[in-house]
Amino acid sequence: MAMMNAAVVTSFAEPPHYQRFEVPRPRSAEEALVDVLAVGLHPRVRSGAAGAHYTSTGTLPMIPGIDAVGQRPDGSRVYFVAADDVIGTMADKALAGPRRSIALPGNADVAKVAAAMNPAMSSWVALRRRVPLERGHSVLILGATGNAGAMAVQVARLLGAGHVVGAGRDPGRLQALTAVGADNIVQLTDDGDATGKALAAAAADTDIVIDYLWGKPAQQAIMALLTARADRGRALNWIQIGAVAGPAIELPSVALRSANLRLQGSGQGSVGPADYLAELPSLVDAISNGAIAVKANTMPLADVEEAWTREERPGERTVLVP
Ligand SMILES: NC(=O)c1ccc[n+]([C@@H]2O[C@H](COP(=O)([O-])OP(=O)(O)OC[C@H]3O[C@@H](n4cnc5c(N)ncnc54)[C@H](OP(=O)(O)O)[C@@H]3O)[C@@H](O)[C@H]2O)c1
Repeated sequence: MAMMNAAVVTSFAEPPHYQRFEVPRPRSAEEALVDVLAVGLHPRVRSGAAGAHYTSTGTLPMIPGIDAVGQRPDGSRVYFVAADDVIGTMADKALAGPRRSIALPGNADVAKVAAAMNPAMSSWVALRRRVPLERGHSVLILGATGNAGAMAVQVARLLGAGHVVGAGRDPGRLQALTAVGADNIVQLTDDGDATGKALAAAAADTDIVIDYLWGKPAQQAIMALLTARADRGRALNWIQIGAVAGPAIELPSVALRSANLRLQGSGQGSVGPADYLAELPSLVDAISNGAIAVKANTMPLADVEEAWTREERPGERTVLVP
């Protein structure tokens, strides 16, 4: 039995351990066993490894990692998304299927691609496939201070937004958004009324909200924006993407009757694999040509336990290298 080194989760209550694991076998002639070059430690990877993601099956042991950059046997490099939630990409080798892989251009920076594809894809796919952004439309990013949120500001600009507002908690990260394309920023504080007023002043007539927060901040923001809207018949497309502030909201029924609120999500399941795949090459180009700023902090895969438990610097994504 061929063996490899991998990050292995043996308990959902512990970080993965670096240990030997059986090399996975391709399940079809199309699937390739690739050498993994770099894997991002995304929030989605953490929730999968804790058995807490909505796709989790509770199977152990598991190898975490939902995507990676790999090298095929012919030497070509690919970005790929794992097909399997149990045998993921945090290992020397992983399986890459053609419906979830794209070839990388020669100028692609392996660590940057591994760091940025997952967070950047969230807004790119939402604004291309869920609610296609019309040139000149305005976009509010709720939770713009995280990796995905800061990239969403840049993605909205790249895809033709006329006006972009970033809202988030951390004042330093918020201020930095003006240098990457935000026309306006709004600080989210514990004072719900003041935050609602500030959001309404900056973005009452926005066309699209990209929401990474959900929970209380989204609940308050929906009502604050709707009640301040000049034309309540104008569509307000709310795209739910992350839930870092809470898994549920209370939504008064009047919100759906008294304004043209269109609530939808974007993620695995609401957008099909073929639609994702079709968007990835343009996104790789945007990352490779520097149109989306990326800070990747690389660490050896052997140090996965330390990577898991140390505090990440804001705006940085840990990338593990086998
Ligand atoms: N659906 C999809 O396709 C998709 C794809 C990628 C990511 N996601 C999801 O999007 C979310 C963000 O991902 P990420 O990569 O940007 O993570 P990240 O880099 O870790 O950023 C998360 C940010 O959330 C903010 N935050 C945390 N708790 C908050 C709260 N209670 N209120 C307001 N802000 C809060 C923090 O900003 P402050 O420093 O300002 O507090 C933090 O920087 C995650 O839930 C992830 O799973 C979804």
